[in-house]
This record gives sequence, C-alpha cells and structure tokens, in this order.
Amino acid sequence: MKKINRRAQQRQLQLPPGSLGWPYIGETLQLYSQCPNYFFKSRLQRYGEVFKTHLLGYPCVMLATAEAIRFVLVTHSDLFKPTYPKSKECIVGPLALPFQSGEYHLRLKKIVQGSLSPDLLRAILTDIESIVRCTLKAWDGHVEPTYHAMKRARKRLSCILYEIIEKRRQKGQAGNDLLGCLMGSKEENRGTLTTEQIADNVIGVLFAAQDTTASALTWILKYLHDNPNVLDIVKAEQIEIYQANDCGKKPLTWTQTRNMNATNKVMMESLRMASILPFTFREAVADVEYKGADCHVTLGYLIPKGWKVMPLFRNIHHNPEFFQDPDKFNPSRFEVAPRPNTFLPFGNGVHACPGNELAKIEILVLIYHLVTNYRWDLIESSDEVEYSPFAVPKRGLPAKIWRL
Ligand code: HEM
Repeated sequence: MKKINRRAQQRQLQLPPGSLGWPYIGETLQLYSQCPNYFFKSRLQRYGEVFKTHLLGYPCVMLATAEAIRFVLVTHSDLFKPTYPKSKECIVGPLALPFQSGEYHLRLKKIVQGSLSPDLLRAILTDIESIVRCTLKAWDGHVEPTYHAMKRARKRLSCILYEIIEKRRQKGQAGNDLLGCLMGSKEENRGTLTTEQIADNVIGVLFAAQDTTASALTWILKYLHDNPNVLDIVKAEQIEIYQANDCGKKPLTWTQTRNMNATNKVMMESLRMASILPFTFREAVADVEYKGADCHVTLGYLIPKGWKVMPLFRNIHHNPEFFQDPDKFNPSRFEVAPRPNTFLPFGNGVHACPGNELAKIEILVLIYHLVTNYRWDLIESSDEVEYSPFAVPKRGLPAKIWRL
C-alpha cells in the first residue's frame, strides 16, 4: 500500500474491476435512473467491494470494505484530498475546514474541535435544553430552500458575521465561542486568520451542523414511530429522568444525558440504518497502489492520480458480515460494540466530524423533551429515501406533533 513513483511498476498494476460506462457520461445515467443503493449494491455483487466506475464526469474508485476505507481516510489520508462540487464550495466558503488539507486544515480543526469539546458542551447544556424547548414549540415542518435562496442567505450571513467580527475587534473582546476562538488564533509564522477565513469557517460549521442533525432527528422520529415497542422502552427511560427532575421543572444534568442507555442505542442504530452521509469523496493526489487483503490481485490495484475515491459508509453499515440482518431496526445490536472501522456515521481520520458530541447531545435532549411532553403522528411514512444531499425520508417525513 503506497504512493507509486516508478513507471515500470505502475504499468503492471491493474485498475480495480468495474465499468467506466459510456464516453463522457460514464455510468451517471444508471446512478440517477435508479435508487443509488441499488446502483452500488448491484456493482458490489458483480465486481466485489473495490470497484471502478465513472460518475459526473470523473473516473472513480468505490470502496466498501472497512480496510480500504481506513486506508483512504486514516492511514494514507495524505495521498487523498477532500473534493466537493464547486457550487458547494461557493455557498459554504472556499476557505472553510471541510475543503482543506495539510497544515491549514490541522490548524482550523484544532480550533473547531476546541470550541466543541465535551467540557464546553457540558457548560452549555442548559442553553441547548432551552433552544430545544423553543424549537419544539415552534416546530411546523421543514421547508427546503432553493440554491439561489441559499446563495442570498449565505451573502447575508457573511455580512452579519463581518459586522460582529468588527464590533468584537473594536471592543477588543473576541469571546470564547467558535467565532472568538477563530479570531484569537495566532501562529508564530502565520499570524492571525483573515476576516474571510474566519467567516467561511463559522459558516462552514453551521452548514455541516444543520442539515445533518435535522436529518438524524427526522429518521429517529420515523424509527420510533414505526417501532412502538422501542418507543415504549425509550419513553420509560426518559419518564424516569423527567420524574427525578420534578416533572421537568429541574434542568437535565450532564450525568443524566450520559446515562440514557436505551436512547443512546436508538440513536446509534438510527445513525447506522439511515447513514445520513452515505458516502464521501476524496481525490488521489498521486498514483496510489492499494493492496489490501480484500484485493484479489497479486500486485494491488492502481488508483490513478486525479481519480475520485468514494468510501461507501452506507454499504459498510448494511453489510450483514458486520451487522446481522442489517435492514432491521434493532437498537439492541449496540449492546455489543461494533467491530473497529465498521461504524462510521461521523466519518474517520483527519476529516472526521468534530461536531459528533454536540450532535449527540442535541439528539438526546430533543428525544427527552419529545417523548415526555409530546406525541407525533406521521402523515406519510414510507421507507423510500431522498438525498438532499443528506439522506432524508421521502418528502421530509410530514408529521403532526402536538403537546400533551
Ligand atoms: C448527526 C449529525 C452529524 C453527522 C451524521 C455528521 C457527519 C459527518 C461526517 C461523516 C463527516 C466527515 C466527512 C468526510 O470525511 O468527508 C463530517 C465532517 C464535519 N462535520 Fe459533521 N456530522 C454531524 C453533525 C455535525 C455538527 C453538529 C457539526 C458542528 C457543530 C459538524 C461539523 C462538521 C465539520 C466542520 C466537518 C468537517 C471536518 C473536517 O473536514 O475536518 N457536524 N460530519
């Protein structure tokens, strides 16, 4: 497993099996004319768990083994850089954390991770709880904004941020939140971050946080609704906490959130089943030889420089070798820890999600308030999935929610 620098050796290596489809369009039409899960499943059956294809104008290598995904995201991450559509970079801001690699990425990651550490989350638990209360009160469905509306919103957001940054600079008080941490970051030979870098990164975190968490919560509502026996177990756990907290008059404590065992398993199983980020993209920055135990060739496969590489998280999460009866919602499977590198709802390696603890705490607090104070009914519940780009139930799961 290595970067290749000898032409002779390169010539002997084979590309992974698979089809590059038609000239220019590759297999793009096949992907979009059917459910993406079927597209991947059929090729995995035909070619094995490392295969090539051609999508959206790019040759790609798909990876669906724990070993190959670890190779790309963890052990050889320096040979692969993140790659996103230009439209996404333009909306989020090209200087934001997810689009970077190398030292600048490391610097930003430390700052973002620092501002989302469990210690800081513990301090804002009561704030999270009051936001959850207000959100539940005002919950009246989800409206998907268009690309142009997103661009306008992005422009307004950066104007607001520029004003806040300016005000904080004038006062000489950066603050200790994410914005403050970005404003206060100073490195000996690189100095401080520019206003543009700071704004892109606040917006980058907001983008990465919002739809993912909303999608996770939507799936949890669906799975709890479709599995009344699991809902009863979660309710029993949460009502006990509610009663201990003087019928919800006292705020939730950090320890209580850490001990929501049944609810925690429901959250993990929902993240596995739904696989909100079904796959991610990287691009090979050099010719790479991949030779895992999962390769059926003597020399290893060639991943040519410039090719896209897609770790298929969803296929790992739905592989019966790792998760028995994988299409069944069964939170009790998490009584035993999953095999290493097989449960990746928050990714892995240098680009793994820095917001995972915040997402989990938001989900737990919301479930607590939802099941103790509200009931909900689904107006339409099907098992079909839409990608926007994160996996959400069809039509966003229209539901009616009312307070008890
Ligand atoms: C259930 C909710 C969430 C899920 C399933 C999720 C999932 C992920 C995954 C799989 C990645 C890795 C992507 C890759 O390797 O290409 C990622 C990255 C990221 N996530 Fe999350 N995320 C969630 C919530 C959040 C929250 C709440 C925040 C911030 C408050 C956040 C901020 C980020 C950022 C900034 C990155 C880029 C990290 C980097 O490139 O180093 N996410 N997320």
